[in-house]
Amino acid sequence: MSRTIFEPWPLGRITLANRVVMAPMTRNRADVAGVLPASAITYYEQRAGAGLIVSEATQPSAAGQGYPGTPGIHDDAQQAVWAKVAEAVHAQGGRIFCQLMHTGRIGHESLLPPGGQVVGPSAIRADLEVATADGQMVPCPMPVEMTTAVIKQTIQDFADAAERAVAAGMDGVEIHGANGYLPHQFLSPGTNQRSDEYGGSPENRARFVVELATAIAERIGADRVGLRISPGGQFNDMADKGNDDTYVALIQALAPLKLVYLHTLRRRSSALHEHLRELWPTTYVMNTGYLGSSEMDDLEPILAEGQADLVSVGRLFISNPDLLQRWRNDHPRATWDEDTFYTGGDKGYIDYPVSQNSKEKQR
Ligand SMILES: Cc1cc2nc3c(=O)[nH]c(=O)nc-3n(C[C@H](O)[C@H](O)[C@H](O)COP(=O)(O)O)c2cc1C
Repeated sequence: MSRTIFEPWPLGRITLANRVVMAPMTRNRADVAGVLPASAITYYEQRAGAGLIVSEATQPSAAGQGYPGTPGIHDDAQQAVWAKVAEAVHAQGGRIFCQLMHTGRIGHESLLPPGGQVVGPSAIRADLEVATADGQMVPCPMPVEMTTAVIKQTIQDFADAAERAVAAGMDGVEIHGANGYLPHQFLSPGTNQRSDEYGGSPENRARFVVELATAIAERIGADRVGLRISPGGQFNDMADKGNDDTYVALIQALAPLKLVYLHTLRRRSSALHEHLRELWPTTYVMNTGYLGSSEMDDLEPILAEGQADLVSVGRLFISNPDLLQRWRNDHPRATWDEDTFYTGGDKGYIDYPVSQNSKEKQR
């Protein structure tokens, strides 16, 4: 039976070998300087069978780090390892975008440079615990409301990081506008109660993301910039329900820019997603995120019926580096070990084997 999922797909300047995206997944293996270990090169290389890999969330500046062990892409040492990752993925015929994440109000000052403060669109605290630099769980601090100057600097930091990602040979960047981090905090009225041009109306709440995307696109080309959103998402103490108007305003404002893709987490409101799909002028990527299964038989209809152009898959890629081969050959999929998602060095990172079946097909 022919499967849409194995068909190639043109994405801006590149062509993906298939319609499957490895979803961005934080693995917390970087050192205190935000530099990935050499094992990260192996980890991504092993998973290059995805049409596109979106990297783990990566801070565009020291000020954007909210978790211990996340990598950065704001200095030469960090960039050098990303260059090796990109080279290894390309050598296997894969493609990779760097997901850029500023965590905003989610974070702790111990992770920031001396004197650094946790910031957000408004001084509204997330009601959850966060890890300090030495791994203690403590209540999330009250964020400091960002001034206009800090907003503009943050946008510049993203554009600088995007330039580094491209200089490292990566195929583009994905703006992390989902899951309760800084861009999402601007979009949502529960975290954005500003009275300036960045808050108060759907258009104003969308402004930060629009300016951010525009600045990055100007720097590296819109055909290398994707955006991830999670409308209605509640992760990280977000109250984003009933905020559909902001997402419509956002996508209407972004449409003329022709970013290379929109990547949505579908947790609710499929009517909104259908509307966003109609409004969006380029590639539409869907992640069924925890709601349903990310198995091929569930994803294939999403593509075949045209609900999305690409589908992204998270956890199955952690435990099945050769996921596409397994799907092609109908070989069983391994289950993932949650205990090693965010810790464990090489264990649960680069030691998931390829299936015997995949090895035979590769010969
Ligand atoms: C270990 C882990 C880390 C994740 N880190 C990120 C991240 O850095 N950025 C992001 O946008 N989503 C992140 N996610 C969400 C995934 O991209 C994806 O949406 C989620 O796993 C649901 O897809 P799945 O059911 O195929 O796993 C993470 C998920 C997991 C399991």
